[in-house]
Amino acid sequence: MAMTMQELREQFYEKLQQANAAEAFEELRVRYLGKKGEITGLLKNMGAIAPEMRKEYGAKVNALKDEVEASIKRRIEEAHARELEMRIAATERYDLSLPSTLSEGSYHPITLVQREVEQIFASMGFTIEDYDEIVDDYHCFEALNIPKHHPARDMQDTYYLSNGQLLKTHTSAAQNAIMRKYGAPLRAIFPGRCFRNESTDACHENTFFQMEGIMIDENISISNLIYFMKTMLSEVFRRDVKVRLRPGFFPFVEPGFELDISCAICGGKGCPSCKNSGWLELCPCGMIHPNVLKAGGIDTEKYTGFAFGLGLTRLAMMKYGIKDIRDLNSGNLKSLDQFVK
Ligand code: PHE
Repeated sequence: MAMTMQELREQFYEKLQQANAAEAFEELRVRYLGKKGEITGLLKNMGAIAPEMRKEYGAKVNALKDEVEASIKRRIEEAHARELEMRIAATERYDLSLPSTLSEGSYHPITLVQREVEQIFASMGFTIEDYDEIVDDYHCFEALNIPKHHPARDMQDTYYLSNGQLLKTHTSAAQNAIMRKYGAPLRAIFPGRCFRNESTDACHENTFFQMEGIMIDENISISNLIYFMKTMLSEVFRRDVKVRLRPGFFPFVEPGFELDISCAICGGKGCPSCKNSGWLELCPCGMIHPNVLKAGGIDTEKYTGFAFGLGLTRLAMMKYGIKDIRDLNSGNLKSLDQFVK
């Protein structure tokens, strides 16, 4: 005896429950909905139905057909979604023991020399300080004995912000805050990024790095300054480098000096990196002007000190033989990648 519609439906759902692969779903579709399928067969049965029942019967069979079709489709979609989830889960599983295909990263040459100099000074009892890049006029100039309208301000082409603040033109901008923070005696270095509105060439950039250092104590003299500068340079270069000290003017030091280093790119013969002079201004320095100490709250009867502003960018160029300062800010990995430590 042929199955009733209800039995057929139950049987279908039982089989659908068991099916779990694409072929099984297709099999079910053919079995129930195909040309010779069981539901199609019900329609073929129409002849055996009393004429007045045929319309209702036909509608019921069609409804069952739609229902079966929709159920199969839903199961196929669910199976797809599950498969996708499994695939995503499989790719997200990391195998940490696999060898890496990435090449090793490298430090920026400025980071390398900065760390080296930091270590040298830390071993001599200096603390390492951090300071803002956006500062005010007082800290960048006035506290450093550079009053408003002083011609020395023209030496540094400053980037001013619309709120009156400015991008620090030198790391000396931190001197006052650090003196006020710690008082004397004091040994501190403070590396930082500086900005000047300059036209750029092989040895000038509008963004560069300096490392400021100050030492304040009783009886600090120029000979202390020279000793610390010499020690630092011989440790950084680990070979004899030619240096020269000549007078230099900076309102915040008295006396002031320019410490030049013989150009390592051309060996002192003259090249674009040293503006053809054979020398590079590496580390301006001097004895801290009493006005600056006073502004920092230091007793000038008791204490004296020296300050230096080491050009970290220039130091990196000399140490690694980088001809063009612009390479350092270029982000060009071809030139920067070589400095793997
Ligand atoms: N701040 C000075 C500059 O950038 C350098 C300097 C620092 C000079 C400390 C003397 C002492 O030009």
